[in-house]
Amino acid sequence: MLTDRTVAILGTGTMGRALGTGLVNAGVIAADRVRGTVRHEAERDRIAGDVDFSVGTDNVAATRGAAVVLLCTKPKTGAGLLKELADAGALDHEPLIISICAGVSTGALEEACAHKARIVRAMPNTPCQIGEGMTVVAGGNRATDEDIETALQIFHTLGRALVLDEEHMNTVTGLSGSGPAFVYVIIEALSEGGVMMGLPRSVATELAAQTVKGAARMVLETGRHPAALKDDVTTPAGCTISALMALEDGRLRSVLARGVQEAARSAAGLGGE
Ligand SMILES: NC(=O)c1ccc[n+]([C@@H]2O[C@H](COP(=O)([O-])OP(=O)(O)OC[C@H]3O[C@@H](n4cnc5c(N)ncnc54)[C@H](OP(=O)(O)O)[C@@H]3O)[C@@H](O)[C@H]2O)c1
Repeated sequence: MLTDRTVAILGTGTMGRALGTGLVNAGVIAADRVRGTVRHEAERDRIAGDVDFSVGTDNVAATRGAAVVLLCTKPKTGAGLLKELADAGALDHEPLIISICAGVSTGALEEACAHKARIVRAMPNTPCQIGEGMTVVAGGNRATDEDIETALQIFHTLGRALVLDEEHMNTVTGLSGSGPAFVYVIIEALSEGGVMMGLPRSVATELAAQTVKGAARMVLETGRHPAALKDDVTTPAGCTISALMALEDGRLRSVLARGVQEAARSAAGLGGE
C-alpha cells in the first residue's frame, strides 16, 4: 500500500519512532522511504543509531513529495507546524496528513492549512512498535473514504485499528492512548505482590506480564464478557474471591475508570484550542 511512496514523520519522538519502526519492521515500507524529523540537531544526532530510517531537522524538505505526512509532534506544536508547511508550499502536492496529536481537532488543523488539506486524526499507542497497537482514526471534513482506508491500512499493520466519530477521540486517548501506562503500573504492582511473597523480581514480572497478556487475549479471542471470564477463576470460598473482595475494598474499579476519565478530560485541553 505504501510501496514506492514516501512517508514523512514530523516529530520522531517516542510515538514517531514507534510508528516508523513498526512500519519498517512490518515490511510495509522500505526504510529509505521514511523521512523523520526532530526539532533539535542534538536530538537528531542522539537518535541516529536508534532508528533504521533517516532523521533530519528540515520539515519542509521531509514533507515535499511525501504521500503521507504523519504529524507526531507535541499537541501544541501541531497546528503551527502545519501552517509553516502550508505557507512554504510544502503541502501543495496535497499529501494525506495523519495527525496523532492528542486533543487537537481536525478542524483546528484544517484551519492551519487554510482548509486545503486532507486530514485524518488518529490515536495510536506505543505497542504499535511491536505490532500490538490499538489505534482509532477519524476523518476530517476533506478526508475521503480512500484516505480513511489508507490510514486504517497503515495502523492495521501495527496492531488493531478502527474508525470512530471524532467526538470520541479524547476518550480514546484516555483509554487506549494512555492505557499502556496504566497497565505497566498494574503489572509492576502485581509483580510487587509476588516479590513480597518471596518470588525473584524477574520471575514475578514475567508471571504478571504473561497473565495480563493471556487475560487480554481471552477477552479479545473468546468475545466473552470480562465478568464471565472472572467468574471462571473464582472458586466458591476460594482464594481468588477473597482477593477480589480486598481489591473492591481498595476501589480498584472506580480508581481505574476515573483514571480513564481524568486522562480524557486532560486530553481535551492539550491542543490549546
Ligand atoms: N506517548 C504516547 O504514548 C502517545 C500515544 C498516542 C499519541 N501520542 C501523541 O503523539 C505526539 C508525540 O508524543 P511523544 O510522546 O512521542 O512526544 P515526544 O517523545 O516528546 O516527541 C516529540 C517529538 O517532536 C519533535 N518536535 C518538536 N517540535 C518539532 C518541530 N517543530 N519539527 C519537527 N519535530 C519537532 C521533538 O524533537 P526535539 O526532541 O528535537 O524537540 C520530538 O522528537 C503527541 O502529540 C501525543 O499527544 C502520544
